[in-house]
Amino acid sequence: MKVALGVSGGIAAYKAAEVVRLLQDRGIRVQVIMTQGAQQFVRPLTFAALSGEKVITEMFAAGGDEKGAQPNIDSAIEHIAVAQSIDALLVVPATADILAKFAQGIANDFLTTLYLATTAPVVVAPAMNVNMWNHPATQANLELLRQRGVRIVEPGEGYLACGMTGPGRLAENELIVAAAMEALGASQELAGETVLITAGPTREKIDPVRYLTNRSSGRMGYALAEAALRRGARVLLVSGPTALTPPGSAEVTRVESSEQMRQAVLKLLPEATIVIKTAAVADYRPKSAAEQKIKRKGPISLELEPTKDILAELARSKSSQLIIGFAAETENVLENARKKLLSKSLDAIVVNDVSREGVGFDSDRNAVTIITHSEVIEVPETTKWEVAQRVLDQAVRLRKVSQAK
Ligand code: CTP
Repeated sequence: MKVALGVSGGIAAYKAAEVVRLLQDRGIRVQVIMTQGAQQFVRPLTFAALSGEKVITEMFAAGGDEKGAQPNIDSAIEHIAVAQSIDALLVVPATADILAKFAQGIANDFLTTLYLATTAPVVVAPAMNVNMWNHPATQANLELLRQRGVRIVEPGEGYLACGMTGPGRLAENELIVAAAMEALGASQELAGETVLITAGPTREKIDPVRYLTNRSSGRMGYALAEAALRRGARVLLVSGPTALTPPGSAEVTRVESSEQMRQAVLKLLPEATIVIKTAAVADYRPKSAAEQKIKRKGPISLELEPTKDILAELARSKSSQLIIGFAAETENVLENARKKLLSKSLDAIVVNDVSREGVGFDSDRNAVTIITHSEVIEVPETTKWEVAQRVLDQAVRLRKVSQAK
């Protein structure tokens, strides 16, 4: 595994040296990239000596040692080579300037160009003066980055180098490294587990051209699939119709109706050790689908019948699998979710209040509460990727508890 560690120009730049060592302790190769500003605070030699690799300090390195040498072609495309070879990009410290450039897509040095060129996960650990941190411009940039999936290791509060007190202090190195490891999926806590995930909406046929469906986009389930793969699991993804591309190594079964989803899930159940049901399964379907397209006439009514509750059926036919359900509620959120936890014999339920604007259905963001038989864990509004991480944390914890029994 290889991490590109971007160091930008803040007083906390020296702390990145310790991050190099902590990553290396975990068997990770580190390619350090320093901005011009960073080089005012720490010499590249420090990082070269620690990382055992050449430190990248400029976009176009000269081709030879002689004065006036032209940049060579290797250096001109090095950012692409680095972008393709890394498993994560970590920036410690991330100054307000770097955050602004990342957010706006400005690519005027190696680090900012690398940020645009890489598809690897990105983690930033900001550090700056408290007023710079609180400034609406910085906060707006952070929000944009968050929405695009960048993980932000929030700064701590305390005495800052500028003499002020408040948020802006670089997070503890252990926290930064934990976030980087999570981004790398290097914890491999789910190695040996097979996670069966259902995602997306279902479609219940009315006639050959019409169906009943719901607003689920499938993003929560796909984020869980990707996160579980990164933690080393085998992933079986049963997906209703979505516009999303499933993560490369997930084993995907595509379904349309709730009945098809039910059959796929029951068939795969014996292979699974963990089941996570994010799918928004229809509760009702037309009693009989018309063979021919229904013609326009006067008012008509559609007779609906309940679908089978897949989760409830799973609970009856499962062996030792851990089962996590999702619940979408619009009122009495926690109370209703708790009832479902018990009535569906689940190990945990993840509930979201879908009446809230901007989170839940058809959004990149979510705010949930994870309820187990012994705990209630609030996950305030964040990306679906982060929610997926918190749900998997619980899956890992509950598996350990059940294995210890
Ligand atoms: N679910 C299921 N099969 C169904 C309906 C729902 O397996 N036919 C699962 C969903 O995948 C989700 C959980 O049950 O994990 C809760 O879904 P939700 O729609 O909130 O609950 P319902 O049981 O349908 O209850 P209600 O609609 O009355 O709130």
